[in-house]
Amino acid sequence: MKRLKQHAIWGQRGSFILAATGSAVGLGNIWKFPYITGENGGGAFVLMYLVCIALIGIPIMMAEIMLGRRGRANPATTMLNISQELGVSRFWSVIGWMGVLAGFLILSYYTVIAGWTLEYFERATHGGFRGLNGDTSNALFSEFLADPARLIFWQSLFMAMTVLVLAFGVNKGLETAIRWMMPLLFVLLIVLLGYAYSSGEFATSLRFMFSFNPEDLSWEAALVALGHAFFTLSLGMGAIMAYGSYMPSTASIGKTVIVVACLDTLVALMAGVAIFAFVFATPGISPSSGPGLMFVTLPVAFGNMAVGTIVGAAFFLMVILAAWSSTISILEPAVAYVTERFGLHRITACVFIGATAWALGLGSVLSFNHWADVQILWGKNFFDSMDFISTNMLLPLGGFLMAIYVGWVMTREQAEHEFRHDSVGLLKVWRFVLRYLSPIAVLAVLINGIFPLLTTVFSE
Ligand code: PHE
Repeated sequence: MKRLKQHAIWGQRGSFILAATGSAVGLGNIWKFPYITGENGGGAFVLMYLVCIALIGIPIMMAEIMLGRRGRANPATTMLNISQELGVSRFWSVIGWMGVLAGFLILSYYTVIAGWTLEYFERATHGGFRGLNGDTSNALFSEFLADPARLIFWQSLFMAMTVLVLAFGVNKGLETAIRWMMPLLFVLLIVLLGYAYSSGEFATSLRFMFSFNPEDLSWEAALVALGHAFFTLSLGMGAIMAYGSYMPSTASIGKTVIVVACLDTLVALMAGVAIFAFVFATPGISPSSGPGLMFVTLPVAFGNMAVGTIVGAAFFLMVILAAWSSTISILEPAVAYVTERFGLHRITACVFIGATAWALGLGSVLSFNHWADVQILWGKNFFDSMDFISTNMLLPLGGFLMAIYVGWVMTREQAEHEFRHDSVGLLKVWRFVLRYLSPIAVLAVLINGIFPLLTTVFSE
């Protein structure tokens, strides 16, 4: 077994929950969830998403943390170590590899969008939203997207912020950052929800999010819901596995996972309700306006509020914190791998990997302007293709392999060894769901969601 360096352990109680929640709560909850709900029909989509979280997300998250804590190394080495210990094929380290790849792709475009939140925070603090309406806000956003230099500036800054935290190491950097970021994030969220309640179309928003219309159910929407369940819980790529590897052996995995999943879902639903409350209160804006939803509609709402400058700045600060605590978790597995496997200095590893992901991100920057019409996959531009490959293909596939590995390759005793502090009943349900329901559901959705796309390519 190869272990070059002493692997870190979270120094304080509660750090794992904070870090895992920080990883989970991010642009996925505040920016992506509301717009994909808008694009995929509202209530029916929310229902499919909740089913995916319960049946697939929670059991796979338990499996992923367990693997990390048992392997006590970066995801690729963890999978190799455990497989050697069990005497099974080295093939399974592919889970770690695919994770590193998915992380790269996600980090590349995630920092681009996270960069937008820096620009909007700056605008908010300068009172830049005052007097906006739907049209002027749209124009402002389009003008911003048309300027690659500005997008690259903010993307670079966000990448630098991410690299900076990780360069200080797991305890001094990551853990310290998370311990002040997360409480601040939650305070901001609660303050903002109060504002949304008092100034938006709250009831219309609730109706949109929770009224179920069977015609809106489709395999395509199910694939998006499944991909998002993985994305929002940071599953299938080793981020949670890496955090699990820093978890003390005395903590209970099952309870922790349920807390993290509930917090994550709660934040997504609260953000969704708040954002649609503003959308429905703003004339000329549709709930299905795509990735621009948060950047077009919310500034209008803030620009017309009495204390909009403060509320707007607080909102974008909250999104920055959420995104920042996620990007550090996306970069961490690759950094841990390079430092542990090749003995590279942590700072060198952070800069090197950050720079490579940054370069790939330039493609996403350009897909909002010069390359807007360049199609890479199934009519999707560069940004959408990166998102599709990582979120809708690699993450579910990674999760599927983890479920098979823990459910079928490991024996019951091996799989349950790390769950000493969890109840027998919970473990029974967990094992059944992980062996049968989760893999079948992931496969069904992957096949039905991706197959039609493949056939359209071949029939062209
Ligand atoms: N969960 C994060 C979000 O919702 C994104 C993420 C994906 C983080 C994969 C880590 C790994 O924004």
